[in-house]
Amino acid sequence: MAESGPARIGHLWIIGSGRTGLSLGLLLRRTGAVHRLTVTGRRPGTPAHPLFPADAEYRPSLDAAPNAVDGVLIAVPDGAIEEVAGRLASLSIPRDVPVVHTSGSRSTEVLGALAERGHPTGGAHPLAAIADPVAGAERLRGVAWGVEGDGAARALAESIVHACGGRALAIAPGGKPVYHAAAVFASNYAVALLAVAERLMDAAGVPAGEARGALAGLATGAVENVAAHGPVPALTGPVVRGDVETVALHLERLSAAERPLYCSLGREALRLARQAGLDPAAAARLSDLLGEAQ
Ligand SMILES: NC(=O)c1ccc[n+]([C@@H]2O[C@H](COP(=O)([O-])OP(=O)(O)OC[C@H]3O[C@@H](n4cnc5c(N)ncnc54)[C@H](OP(=O)(O)O)[C@@H]3O)[C@@H](O)[C@H]2O)c1
Repeated sequence: MAESGPARIGHLWIIGSGRTGLSLGLLLRRTGAVHRLTVTGRRPGTPAHPLFPADAEYRPSLDAAPNAVDGVLIAVPDGAIEEVAGRLASLSIPRDVPVVHTSGSRSTEVLGALAERGHPTGGAHPLAAIADPVAGAERLRGVAWGVEGDGAARALAESIVHACGGRALAIAPGGKPVYHAAAVFASNYAVALLAVAERLMDAAGVPAGEARGALAGLATGAVENVAAHGPVPALTGPVVRGDVETVALHLERLSAAERPLYCSLGREALRLARQAGLDPAAAARLSDLLGEAQ
């Protein structure tokens, strides 16, 4: 299955057979970065996934560690990492084996039980929306990763990032929750905003099925403009034009459920519009409309 290149990670043990664990395992096998892969899940049967049986061994329980592991990657839900770390700490894994987790919100402290035993610990969080355990492999190619940890844990995290063709972003100590909130704004809340836009299109008589591609194309263009020029030059629309009447018309027609969201995002847009040189009189009227003083 390997594409090219020598194995750099050796034997990787992934704990968690969900979207992230299986997608990452699949990509690492495709790139040839691991020469042996073991995946541990909670379910008794081997998952129906292209990794199995040829490219990875599946183990349904955490009762024992596989032999000769070079690195451990924990890809379970954030709330389960500490419990998994505690269980790993009770197994006979050589103390120099690094352990990293894939959570965006939790720091390496959540692996404290392993650090106490002497394991190097770290984090490697892909900035990717992995919605499927197979398609997720290609979603992970070339993305940026938030990495934490020192020594062998940092080296394992960086080897994974490198093997996936990505780049590492070093997170300042204590910065993980805010880093993750940034990722949630850029990814999850972009999805939520597109769902609101589909609902409004439907209310305007354009069915969601027809509107979806049009809205996704519109959003993609805006995202590409931000990537190319930054948010201030990328902002278009009534707020940066100082078009007070259009904003007032929107607010008149939106429901009580949608108006607060429109206003809070509008205030962020107004902040950018001021930086773009918006006329102060128009900014003051928009500020009143959008409830900036509240
Ligand atoms: N999905 C993403 O877009 C994404 C992106 C970046 C980082 N991450 C991070 O990756 C990690 C996993 O997320 P995910 O989206 O891959 O979750 P997921 O698809 O729900 O998979 C989680 C896996 O962990 C297993 N699990 C749950 N509780 C466990 C426990 N107590 N002990 C052992 N295994 C347990 C689950 O088993 P069952 O199948 O039996 O439930 C499942 O196989 C999280 O830290 C998340 O923050 C996710």
